[in-house]
Amino acid sequence: MSQFWKPGAEKPRLLDDEEGGVVFFPTSSGGGYANLERQRQRLPVFRYRTAILYSVETRATTVVVGETGSGKTTQIPQYLKEAGWADGGRVIACTQPRRLAVQSVAARVAEEMGVKLGEEVGYTIRFEDATSTGVTMIKFLTDGVLLREMMDDPLLTKYSVVMVDEAHERSISTDILLGLLKKIQKRRPELRLIISSATIQAKSMAAFFQSSSKRRRRPEGEELGPIMEPAVLSVEGRGFNVQIHYVEEPVADYLRAAVSTVLLIHDQEPMGDILVFLTGQDDIDAAVQLITEETPNRRKNSSGLMVLPLYSGLPRADQELVFSPTPRGKRKVVISTNIAETSITLEGVVYVVDSGFSKQRFYNPISDIENLVVAPISKASARQRTGRAGRVRPGKCYRLYTEEYFVKEMSAEGIPEIQRSNLVSCVIQLKALGIDNILGFDWPASPSSEAMVRALEVLYSLGVLDDDAKLTSPTGFQVAEFPLDPMISKMILSSGELGCSEEIITIAAVLSVQSIWASGWGSQKELDEAKLNFAAAEGDHVSFLNVYKAFLQSGKSSQWCHKNFVNYQAMKKVLEIREQLRRTARRLGIDLKSCERDTVVVRKAITYGFFANACVSEASSHDGKYKTIRGSQEVYIHPSSVLFRVNPKWVVYHSLVSTEKQYMRNVISIDPSWLTEAAPHFYQKQRPNPMLH
Ligand code: CDP
Ligand code: MG
Repeated sequence: MSQFWKPGAEKPRLLDDEEGGVVFFPTSSGGGYANLERQRQRLPVFRYRTAILYSVETRATTVVVGETGSGKTTQIPQYLKEAGWADGGRVIACTQPRRLAVQSVAARVAEEMGVKLGEEVGYTIRFEDATSTGVTMIKFLTDGVLLREMMDDPLLTKYSVVMVDEAHERSISTDILLGLLKKIQKRRPELRLIISSATIQAKSMAAFFQSSSKRRRRPEGEELGPIMEPAVLSVEGRGFNVQIHYVEEPVADYLRAAVSTVLLIHDQEPMGDILVFLTGQDDIDAAVQLITEETPNRRKNSSGLMVLPLYSGLPRADQELVFSPTPRGKRKVVISTNIAETSITLEGVVYVVDSGFSKQRFYNPISDIENLVVAPISKASARQRTGRAGRVRPGKCYRLYTEEYFVKEMSAEGIPEIQRSNLVSCVIQLKALGIDNILGFDWPASPSSEAMVRALEVLYSLGVLDDDAKLTSPTGFQVAEFPLDPMISKMILSSGELGCSEEIITIAAVLSVQSIWASGWGSQKELDEAKLNFAAAEGDHVSFLNVYKAFLQSGKSSQWCHKNFVNYQAMKKVLEIREQLRRTARRLGIDLKSCERDTVVVRKAITYGFFANACVSEASSHDGKYKTIRGSQEVYIHPSSVLFRVNPKWVVYHSLVSTEKQYMRNVISIDPSWLTEAAPHFYQKQRPNPMLH
């Protein structure tokens, strides 16, 4: 069990914010019975309504900074609508980096406005459009979807205001969007931008938008146009104090430490909900299970805990449980990814348990490897997490790391995602928007030139870019047209020629959902056994086809899914995505054909998209060790793969995750001759690789 300073026994030292002691955070009242209108008026942002509207009226760009929960996301779009920014068929857009936040916020705003979601208030995320043209006035969407919309409407003419929300998260799409919006503003000065952020770093955003504008100058020929210099508004709120507790010694296992801390709080602290920050679906599901197993055995409060997971990809019904008020006499424990850090607000949280980690994307241009890594968070994130405890009354935050670690080792801020990502998708999107000089693009934070060169190289090998680094026609434009990773799009294009597009589109759809397997009921062993029924010797992608076929044969039955540990919601999503991809494919003139049982062409098509992720098994090793062909990096087949312990000689993988080792997820066995066939330049440019010949 983790040792904390015991509340009351030994008084925690009061440190200032910089050292992470007692911090003050603003909050709204949290009173439960006021009607929605009263609740709206009580939010801290309400006092700034006039100031915000005035700034949007007079300035091209307004930066709004305010703590999570102060009402930025739900209120500002409504203020804009009330002030007439949606009149005449215009639309107010509000972007979010996360899909789950888009849905949840849109639902809340529709409720506050008393309208049906999808009408006046709508949302769009990839593969799901809940808006109606001509009716929707406020539209929530992911930043990635807005980028896609620019391919059809480069100046975003239907929008009067674009609010780029959660700008402090610095997601890759947010950064690209900011660069593009700055360009659009020069052509369309009537477009208003709001950049909103939970942290003060937003000021650097203001500087970014300032640098383009001569101070206070109005655009030429527009006597009465907006002032180009951005305004920065800070929304101040009342604060409830959050007491921070550190562990005395570093913990070896943050998952177990989190579980025991929850149980400790439940035993010793007054009522109030608990929010736990872990990193991803795996450790969250494990923690939910551990806590649920623990509680019935305890004498006190045995039935008082409601333990709920929260991560993107969670079914809608489970999401609703998380947001619904805690029943009287119960204590809710929400175990979440960092989605609850700033994107969404949970009422009623009094205790926060912070593991100090989150899942982050990292890309190494030298090895050309991108993966999701459980990595330490920054001080800025730690403070945000702490703040979640102070919304309804004074709260407590339990940090599962030492104070010394916080002060001395945690970095002040995270690195923008664009500086730790593979840039393949980013480059193709900019190219499709006609931006050719990508290194010269006006970035809020520049990506590394090595990463850029790598991306250009991969895109060239995919046949998407030509010798002048322009999009090829038709391949380049077709690949850009799919709302997918370019490697998946290329796989679909190739499948048209290989005569297996129906199968490959199914695979692409499965790869676009979180997981088609149902976790959460039954044991890991039962799940593994269920998976075996569909396992194909060729690898995971072919196994997906088996599941899909059996699902269709069952008449798309939910009982069948339940019996076979298949996630019914995910399969319904697969059907939907599949139909959308087939429509796009048809529009692009791709032959929709089935190869029946020929898995060679299926694997070839996969290789045509994913040749860059090829690996070869070490001849001498029986421990499943592989080397990437390009970068000679050591990787392993993930235990969840049907090829785990099978270890075919040559494989390509879909993605990597890294825990103690680098694991390949979704792996398929291939014939090495397909690699040189798929991408001659890519493998010839390399030092000669004896294994390839
Ligand atoms: O964007 P910001 O973090 O500043 O606040 P917000 O998301 O607009 O939240 C304002 C208020 O709306 C908070 O009290 C939230 O709890 C509430 N809200 C909600 O009840 N349900 C949602 N799905 C979203 C927000
Ligand atoms: Mg918000």
